[in-house]
Amino acid sequence: MVVTKSSFGKAKDGQELSLYTLTNHKDMSVQITDLGATLVSITMQDKYENNTDVILGFDTPEEYYASTTYFGAVIGRNGNRIDKGQFEINGKRYQLDNNDNGNNLHSGNNGFDSRKWTVERISESSICFGLEDKDLEQGYPGNFKVTVTYTLTDENELFLHYEGISDQDTVANMTNHAYFNLAGHDSGAMLDQELWLSARAYTPVRDSRSIPTGEIAPVKGTPMDFTTAKPIGSEIDADFEQLQFTGGYDHNFVLQEEKGTVMKFAEVYSPRSGICLEAFTDLPGVQFYAGNFISDCPGKKGAIYQKRQGFCLETQYFPNSINQEGFAKPLLKAGEKYDTTTCYKFSVR
Ligand code: GLA
Repeated sequence: MVVTKSSFGKAKDGQELSLYTLTNHKDMSVQITDLGATLVSITMQDKYENNTDVILGFDTPEEYYASTTYFGAVIGRNGNRIDKGQFEINGKRYQLDNNDNGNNLHSGNNGFDSRKWTVERISESSICFGLEDKDLEQGYPGNFKVTVTYTLTDENELFLHYEGISDQDTVANMTNHAYFNLAGHDSGAMLDQELWLSARAYTPVRDSRSIPTGEIAPVKGTPMDFTTAKPIGSEIDADFEQLQFTGGYDHNFVLQEEKGTVMKFAEVYSPRSGICLEAFTDLPGVQFYAGNFISDCPGKKGAIYQKRQGFCLETQYFPNSINQEGFAKPLLKAGEKYDTTTCYKFSVR
């Protein structure tokens, strides 16, 4: 197992950026840049022994800065949407950027995805990135110190371990925004890939601005039901209001009521490549986003990404949960430890 480092150009402020490559004994490799602690590539052999990079991304920092896709980035302090960018903690009101139809998405214009992270530790199989987000720097209370550790095992598991601490009560709800395409990032739409999701319920949205109604609705009998595996594309364009609001899957699925222990919540399989992804988390929800907004997007190595070329499984507290009664709250108390794990495991069959 080795971790190597190369140059990844320059940050907006002129600082040098790097690209770190983790390689395991099974010849699987993962590349991560300190810009946004972003996953740039995940490469393994498919069933024909072709090297296959299964996530969408860019070759340069300029493209990461210019894009609104959040390819592979760490999102924080809060992933997903907050209604009108407002919330209250301990009787005090806070206002974030409203960067998405009058709401806050992925913490706005100064998100963790656009920051240069520092490398705190490197071991044989892992790399730990850290960031200090100041009191009100994004609009959230408290100085928040956070780390994300990526670990690649010889079982082809990629662990994402988030830890953090704040000196005031605050919101903490981090995620990773990787777009997977198990037939390869440059292989066209991923609609034939078969998804199993453990979720028996999801959180319907009010309208096309994607703020949940607060309801926990059963998936049974709807196109939202992936409790038996089916191709992602099989019902994505169904005559179903929730899918019309969002132009395809872009919903939070309910995995558990509260943060719990790490459990398997998804399995995705590409019949074309034979690559299988299993996903695990301890978080209450996952945003399953089908890449509906991608369009003519130039990506890595000359690829042009199109609509639904990648899917995201963004593990998280439910969208707008800081404001929504009945949803577990992504509230981190001053001095307490934020600690959550998500794992993506790959195999070929
Ligand atoms: C999230 C959102 C989507 C979209 C993408 C980024 O997954 O839920 O609606 O904004 O991020 O393009």
